[in-house]
Amino acid sequence: MSPFITFEGVEGSGKTTQIQRLKKYLTQKGIPCKVTREPGGCPIGEKVRKILLNPDHHKMVSMSELLLYEAARAQHVKEVIEPFLKKGGIVLCDRFSDATLAYQGYGRKINLKWIERLNHLSSWGIKPDVTFLLDCPSEIGLKRALQRNRTLKQENEERFEKEKIQFHRRVRKGYLAIAKKEPRRVKVIDSRQSEDKIFNKICNFVDKLIVRSK
Ligand code: TMP
Repeated sequence: MSPFITFEGVEGSGKTTQIQRLKKYLTQKGIPCKVTREPGGCPIGEKVRKILLNPDHHKMVSMSELLLYEAARAQHVKEVIEPFLKKGGIVLCDRFSDATLAYQGYGRKINLKWIERLNHLSSWGIKPDVTFLLDCPSEIGLKRALQRNRTLKQENEERFEKEKIQFHRRVRKGYLAIAKKEPRRVKVIDSRQSEDKIFNKICNFVDKLIVRSK
């Protein structure tokens, strides 16, 4: 199967901009690629996203939240990711299983082993070949995310931005712990650098990955 690339990071880490630039870069090289996201990426997944991120749903318990993320993933992998990889295209996914470990595991404090098991099931065993972790202090990321939401009028997706700063610090710590455990797969990039610098680093890794997968 062709490369499966995921992007992770705390809120406002600049993933979406980099994904769009990478898509353009690969398309110009004539490499088929698909941009997708979690939660979401397919009609059922997008409906689950609306439930998960609706700020009115403050009564949602952590376990329901976890299972909804996993349910959305099971559908997304089977309907979009796996078929595209099998056809030989590169998939660029905005968040994947690491987000569940970081947010529901480290953030919400659900047992990490349970989540690892659920992640394995919901992704049908598919693992990213490379994950770019765009890292910055949670305070800086959150400030950027809240600004973006105001500009885009995305108040309906604010449930996580409303969490306390301690929650977001745990999420960041979780991501860094995952990167420490799997340094070959997870590439940590300081997202306080310029957009161009970040993009150059990403392209370097991706070019090598493409050569290796040929
Ligand atoms: P986004 O804003 O990057 O699109 O992500 C949506 C929110 O969902 C973000 O706050 C992170 C959160 N999330 C989880 O809590 N667990 C997960 O498994 C995923 C994929 C996202």
